[in-house]
Amino acid sequence: MEKFAEGFMLGAATAAHQVEGNNIYNDYWVQEQVPHSTFNEPSLDAVDHYNHYREDIRLMAEAGLNSYRFSVEWSRIQPEKDAWNEKEVEHYRDVLRCCHENGITPIVTMMHFSSPKWLISMGGWENPEVADLFASYCQRLVRELGDQMEYICTINEANMRLQLAALIKEMMHRMSGQQKAADQGKTKSKESNVQVGINLNKENMMLGMMECAKAFGLENPGEMHTFVSQCTPEGDLLVMKAHEAARDAMKAECPHLKIGLTLSLHDMVARPGGESFAEKEWDDEFLHYLPYIKNDDFLGVQCYTRKFFDKNGGADMPEGAPRTQMGYEDYPAAIADVVRKVSESFKGDLIVTENGIATDDDARRCEFIKEAADSLQQCIADGIPLKGYMYWSLLDNFEWQKGFAMTFGLIAVDRSTQTRYPKESLKVLGRLIEK
Ligand code: BGC
Repeated sequence: MEKFAEGFMLGAATAAHQVEGNNIYNDYWVQEQVPHSTFNEPSLDAVDHYNHYREDIRLMAEAGLNSYRFSVEWSRIQPEKDAWNEKEVEHYRDVLRCCHENGITPIVTMMHFSSPKWLISMGGWENPEVADLFASYCQRLVRELGDQMEYICTINEANMRLQLAALIKEMMHRMSGQQKAADQGKTKSKESNVQVGINLNKENMMLGMMECAKAFGLENPGEMHTFVSQCTPEGDLLVMKAHEAARDAMKAECPHLKIGLTLSLHDMVARPGGESFAEKEWDDEFLHYLPYIKNDDFLGVQCYTRKFFDKNGGADMPEGAPRTQMGYEDYPAAIADVVRKVSESFKGDLIVTENGIATDDDARRCEFIKEAADSLQQCIADGIPLKGYMYWSLLDNFEWQKGFAMTFGLIAVDRSTQTRYPKESLKVLGRLIEK
C-alpha cells in the first residue's frame, strides 16, 4: 500500500483524564465517586500515564510515529479558581520536552471534556464567565509553555454538548413515562448514536445525578452543566465564544501557534427520502459552527462511524453489519468520507485528530487502520489539505462512563502492574509513513 509522505503528521491521541490517573480535582472524578454513579467503574489511577509518559512516548517513537496528541488537565493547573499550580505546569513542560527529544511533534488539547470541579459549581458550561476563564487559563499556560508548543486544539469535540443534549432530551422524555414502555429496550442502541462512551440506562440514574449535584454544591441536577451534559442553544454558542476567546488570547501571546478545535463528525448516509434529515444533521453537527472556526489555522476532524437516514429520520445500519465494542458500525472508510465533506466548506488545513476502533481483535484493528489510511491517501491525492492522522488511542484507557472495557489502544496495559504491551497495530501504524 501507499505510504504517507515525509512531513505528514502520523501519530496517536490520548486525553488527560482517560490516561493520567488521579485527576481528583475535576468533575469526572466527582461523578465517578458518588454512590449511584452512572460510570461502570471509576478512573482511579487509569493507566498511570502521568508517571509512565516517558515510556509511552518512547514506544511511539520506536514504532515510527512522529506526532502525539494529548491534553493538559485544566484542574491540575487550577485546582481552585484562583490557584495556579507551577508544579503541574512543570510536569507538562517535561511531557513536551520528552516529545521533542523523541522527534515527536506535540498537538496539545487545552480541554478534553474534563473541567475543574469549581467551574461546575459556578454554573459550568452555561455560565457566560466560562469563556474568559478558559481563555485566561490558556493564555497563561502558553505564556509559560508556548515555546515548546506548535499545534493547539482549544476544545475537544466542541459539538459534543449539542449531540448529547439531543440524546438526553430523549432520555428525559422516556424517564417521564411519556414514551411507550416498548421503547425501553432501545436505550443501548441510542447510546451508540454518539461517538463517546455514555450510559443511558443505569439503575438509579436520577439518584446518582442528585448526588452529583450535591457534591458540586448545587441545588438540583438541572443546574449541573458539565461539558458532557444538558446544553441550551446559548450553551452551544458559548463553547464557540470560549474557543474564539482562547484562540485570540493565545495568538496574542504566541503568534507562532497553530490553533484550531476538534469536532465529532459522522459520515451521513441518506437512503431515498432521508436526504433532508441527513442534511439537517450535518448542519447541526458541522455547518452551523463554520462562522466561528473559519479563521482557525486548522480543523481537527474526528469520526468513528457512519449514520443512516431514511424517510422517517434516523435509520438502522445495514442488517448484519459488523459492529465495534461501542455498538456502532465498524466502517473504516467513514473518516475519508467526512474529510471530503468537510473540505467542501472548510478551506483551511485538516488534521484527523481522532479515528479508531474499539475491538479486542488487534488483527481487525490493523486492517481498520490500513483501510482508513488508504482512503485518506486518496483524499490527499485529490488535493485535500490533510496534514495529519492521529489514531485513537495510543493506550487502552478509560472510556468515560463505559470504563476500561472498551479497548481502542495500540498498546494494552495491565493495570495491576501498569505494564505496557505494545500491539501489532502500533507497528502497522508506524510503517505507514515514508522514512
Ligand atoms: C473522544 C474520546 C473518546 C473517543 C472514543 C471521542 O469522542 O474525544 O475521549 O474516548 O471518542 O469514544
